[in-house]
Amino acid sequence: MSAERYLTIALCKGRLAKQTLNLFEKVGISCREINDPDTRKLIFVNEELKLRFFLAKGPDVPTYVEYGAADIGVVGKDIIIEEQRKIYEVLDLDIGKCRMCVCGPESARRLLNGQERIRVATKYPNIAKEYFYNQKNQTVEIIKLNGSIELAPIVGLSEVIVDIVETGSTLRENGLVVLEEICPLSARVTVNPVSMRMENERIMKLLRDLGACLENR
Ligand code: PRP
Repeated sequence: MSAERYLTIALCKGRLAKQTLNLFEKVGISCREINDPDTRKLIFVNEELKLRFFLAKGPDVPTYVEYGAADIGVVGKDIIIEEQRKIYEVLDLDIGKCRMCVCGPESARRLLNGQERIRVATKYPNIAKEYFYNQKNQTVEIIKLNGSIELAPIVGLSEVIVDIVETGSTLRENGLVVLEEICPLSARVTVNPVSMRMENERIMKLLRDLGACLENR
């Protein structure tokens, strides 16, 4: 395919985008205007390198990549597992490191013995289902929420939550603890399978540069 085609990279809005862009800058890929905090623009172009960046809500990034609207997506492993899209996961960027955990008040620990039918609030129903049904063999009721998950056990919506723990401060400040750890998480580079074939050279170079940069950190 012609070198004139733009390679499109989808990033998750928020903390992760910033860290990802820092890493990209280290391998000579910069996109200055994306760092402007006041901009409402959604797409940013690096003309020289023929790259296009856009910012999307985390769970939408694998969707853009699966449909080829983005060739590449940088997204947390949590979202990759939850969304179950047909995309290649090709590189662990070792940033945005955190853990997927079952959390709640200490008093809820005894409810995780496999016998109790408890309520589990989460933004990640697929991950929670897989963990409780297939790994723990515990029948639970899963309640999907969209944010501030820690509220659920405090106000009595659920006994426990399945959520991301990074520093642990949200849990601490709300009197909750990690009860069980499900898996470690970090940001991954994902690629559309067709793009991987059609733009193989450019994508592999980017992955090699990022990989080398990670090794030298
Ligand atoms: C995430 C997560 C926890 C918090 C964990 O929420 O859902 O609430 O961060 O981080 P910590 O261990 O460093 O305190 P996020 O800030 O993404 O917002 P949300 O509540 O809208 O999901």
